[in-house]
Amino acid sequence: MHNRRMFLLGAAGTAAAVTLAACGGEGAGSGGPDPDAEPSDLTVGVVMPTQTYERWVSDGNNIKEGLEEKGYTVDMQYADDDIPTQQQQLDQMITQEVDVLIIASIDGSALSAQLDAAAAAGIPTIAYDRLLTDSENVDFYVTFDNYEVGVNQANSLLYGLGLLDENFEPADDAPEGPLSIELFAGSLDDNNAHLFWEGAIDTLQPYLDDGTLEVPSGQMDIDQAATQRWEQETAQTRMENLLTTHYTGGKELHGVLAPADPLSRGIINALQNDGRGPSIEEGLPVVTGQDSEIASIKLIADGIQHSTIFKDTRDLAEQAIVAAESFLEGGEPEANDTETYDNGMKVVPSYLLEVQMVLEENYEEIMIDSGYYTEEEVESGQTE
Ligand code: BGC
Repeated sequence: MHNRRMFLLGAAGTAAAVTLAACGGEGAGSGGPDPDAEPSDLTVGVVMPTQTYERWVSDGNNIKEGLEEKGYTVDMQYADDDIPTQQQQLDQMITQEVDVLIIASIDGSALSAQLDAAAAAGIPTIAYDRLLTDSENVDFYVTFDNYEVGVNQANSLLYGLGLLDENFEPADDAPEGPLSIELFAGSLDDNNAHLFWEGAIDTLQPYLDDGTLEVPSGQMDIDQAATQRWEQETAQTRMENLLTTHYTGGKELHGVLAPADPLSRGIINALQNDGRGPSIEEGLPVVTGQDSEIASIKLIADGIQHSTIFKDTRDLAEQAIVAAESFLEGGEPEANDTETYDNGMKVVPSYLLEVQMVLEENYEEIMIDSGYYTEEEVESGQTE
């Protein structure tokens, strides 16, 4: 799986610069966390991309609460999906000499200057969920198995189309096809979007090759399928355009690969406005998702959205806190993967978490029995 996980955004990558032991707290840096300091004297800088996606709000809250419970001071900032704002927030945190940085980037390759400055100041940096690329000065990465997210999305689509059975084996009574699908990807400046796409396409490819599946728009490149900044409206508009261009005269569309719940809901709006559905039982195409947002879990419970992916952000926040604490105590966080995430300049030691596929038949078990949402929240489609 080497080198598959990094998609260079315009830079030339070589394996030459790979050093696992590099750490921002070492080298030319003057400062760095003082291992003898009291937690209350230590500040963790946390930058998050946006509050428009539910998950980043939960991630932020979980990180902040967890660190504060341990006595640390937290400076947390959201950047409204604006890259210069995020750069300024980091510049300011570095000037104020925070002791460690947790960074969920907007554009993973746009923060090299800040990462260099952090390293020079001895501030360790942790990439959160999204890989920071094109920089040697990334010390650790906490994330989910992002390739597996894409595999799960595609498998759920194949299951929804009747091509796989409930054990995700080829179904005995699979339709012959061709079945029509359309493909959506996330924002190209987010390394994750490429991994989700690759996992999904690798899984769908045999069915596309043998003609069981077809993409009537012909839009099969990630560039054509991408959704800049992961915006719901952009996905809805693209779906509307696909429908008016390629699905007139009652032409059937069976499924849509959608990489995140807000995009799924935009796509579902477009499909319903076109007179499809309103539920899967009534002919709505099966639409995938990601993040288990409450509005989408309700749609799954109501038989409207087909699937999502559960990534427990409580666990991710916990891992970020564990990593931050290791740096603050003068140590190195423990990685469970030191091979996969090549950022173009180094392989970033990582801690990867597992993901789960959520469907109508298991959302109660995964989302409610686990205590993530209450039954009432799922019924209303809103968290309390
Ligand atoms: C995250 C997804 C999220 C997407 C849009 C990705 O980097 O991994 O969980 O849906 O960004 O915010």
